[in-house]
Amino acid sequence: MKPKVLLPPFMSRYDKVIQMLDHVAHIEYIDKKKYREQLTDAEGMVGGRINEKVLQDALRLKVVARYGVGYDDCDVEAMTRHEVYLCHTPGVLSNSVADMVLALLLACNRKIVQADRYVRDGWEDRAPGRPTYGLDLKGKTLGIFGLGRIGLEVAKRCVKGFEMDLIYFDINHNRKAEKELGAKFMTLEEVMKKSDFISVNVALTSKTIGMIGEEQLRMMKKTAYIINTSRGPVIEQASLVKVLSEGAIAGACLDVFEKEPIQKNDPLLKLKNVVLSPHIGSATEEAREAMAICDAKNIVAVIKGEIPPLNVVPEQRGMIFKR
Ligand code: DGY
Repeated sequence: MKPKVLLPPFMSRYDKVIQMLDHVAHIEYIDKKKYREQLTDAEGMVGGRINEKVLQDALRLKVVARYGVGYDDCDVEAMTRHEVYLCHTPGVLSNSVADMVLALLLACNRKIVQADRYVRDGWEDRAPGRPTYGLDLKGKTLGIFGLGRIGLEVAKRCVKGFEMDLIYFDINHNRKAEKELGAKFMTLEEVMKKSDFISVNVALTSKTIGMIGEEQLRMMKKTAYIINTSRGPVIEQASLVKVLSEGAIAGACLDVFEKEPIQKNDPLLKLKNVVLSPHIGSATEEAREAMAICDAKNIVAVIKGEIPPLNVVPEQRGMIFKR
């Protein structure tokens, strides 16, 4: 009998993925109500939210493929202890997330959401004036937190396309970006102080959780915007609401939140100087299909015993599991 692999139902539309997996596995689609039961005899799955408790029931599980690059919802230490590979989809979504950063940056800077509302509400003055003004991007400073794969794509677009200056903070220097894009490495505080636009592109880890709090936000220019497409908890949301309400910064564009979906009474929803989107950074046809294919490749590799699989998370790189 072929080993069982669990897939989220939406994956059925990717013919290539189904073909790849069909050769080596019996595919079962996840039914949220029966998920824990389905997991008991599954060897692979596309999904997340894996913790010790889930692993204790999933005795045959060999590989979990995250449908995304971030894997902060998985307990890597427990997975490693149980010898379950955790794979993700780095690279294939960098362009789509970077495009989203630019969409948000332009939307907030050029007041697109307010302008749209203004037109729909009757367009009272033919020339609505300063409330609709933004800033020229040429010569403005973009600050990036996390100049990895996604950050680098954001940087390229802003430096080459909009002729912006680039500063960044990361745990590592990105020498390539320094050489090719003129990126300047600075401290977190310097990036907060000097940027006109800040793009947050770090993974959520114990080091980055709450990395941008009230103290850091208050260092920003009053005219500056912050854009977060990484993970909500990197920025302290209550502090962000506070500085936005006071007008201490110009605005924020958020694709990610501390709680998703956002609560109906969240104060962010009342603010005019924010642009919000529902965690859709990688939501392009191309990226989503490439992510599904990447997941399928990783599951097939583990099921065939090709070890270690492609795209295993950095913490498990080089490890060989015998499960
Ligand atoms: C990612 O790739 O991590 C996206 O945020 C989807 O989880």
